[in-house]
Amino acid sequence: MIKKIFLSGIQPSGRPHIGNYFGAMKQFVDLQNEYDGYALIVDYHALHSLRNPTEMNENIKNVLLDYLAIGLDPNKVTIFKQSDVSEHTELCWIFDTITTMPYLMRAHAFKDAEQKNKEIDVGTFNYPVLMAADILLYGPDVVPVGQDQKQHVEIARDIAEKFNRTYGEIFKLPEAMIMKQVAVVPGTDGRKMSKSYDNTIPLFAEYAEIKKAVMSIVTDSSGGIPQNVFAIHRLFRDENELKKIYEEKSGKYKELKEMLTEDIEKFIAPLREKRKEFAKDIPKALAILKAGGERAKEVASKKMVEVREKIGVNVY
Ligand code: TYM
Repeated sequence: MIKKIFLSGIQPSGRPHIGNYFGAMKQFVDLQNEYDGYALIVDYHALHSLRNPTEMNENIKNVLLDYLAIGLDPNKVTIFKQSDVSEHTELCWIFDTITTMPYLMRAHAFKDAEQKNKEIDVGTFNYPVLMAADILLYGPDVVPVGQDQKQHVEIARDIAEKFNRTYGEIFKLPEAMIMKQVAVVPGTDGRKMSKSYDNTIPLFAEYAEIKKAVMSIVTDSSGGIPQNVFAIHRLFRDENELKKIYEEKSGKYKELKEMLTEDIEKFIAPLREKRKEFAKDIPKALAILKAGGERAKEVASKKMVEVREKIGVNVY
């Protein structure tokens, strides 16, 4: 029986947080037994915000360790980095030629970037097209992501349709897989958890860091139930059980935060330990990444033969 395929990716732009984990990474682990998987480290995407080569190098290794520590099995999931498979940027160019500027200008991420900075680089503008290439090269059935990536997956579908219409059917249309309960994990200030808002709880945080982050959660004093604390707490405990506890301890914010700190610690401590084990043998971890890149390259280069055939550049 042919297995279904999932594919997703993370930018090596800093430490992953519990929003990345619950919104996306956890699904990679949950899917790996039933699906063939691809877990990318999208280093070329991260270039638009990270221009420090030492940091880039470290971050790539860090995401790799994170993937291994959360339980991704390299025999079931191809873990690789985008820059090892040059077909991604090659296909991106071909997609560029069938994608219009007005269409990309409607993307939320572009509009946000434009509001903050008028001098947007072409890479930021083009970001969804490279992401479409990441996805479509491997024909995944599902793309597990958080809500903020929904539009990007829709763009990938539109580009696949346009290519198929223009040159003939070769791309499968992917579906975004977004878990409703964790589509937007809130940060310590109640907004979406995001590195750029400085409101994160890092996935592999040490105890002191967890405590500091939890204590900084902005509490609203209405009704005695601190909503922002509750919204994060429900990731770690059954919601009904939690509702009772929060009612019993109404108004006792400090106590509730202490309880949340302990619950997060209980969850993170074993992951942190596993990560430390993997970090003891970086060459072994890198060998997994390299082998993953070679496996992905095989699949991607086959797809590119089809693409070149379709667009008519294959003359030999
Ligand atoms: P990135 O690196 O920003 O985030 C990685 C994943 O984490 C999810 N996420 C969240 N989910 C719920 N709540 C949050 N607060 C939260 N913050 C982040 C993101 O939705 C994402 O799934 N463009 C992608 C990377 C990418 C990609 C791909 C993904 C490149 N190519 C191909 C899938 C397929 C990104 O920037 O993710």
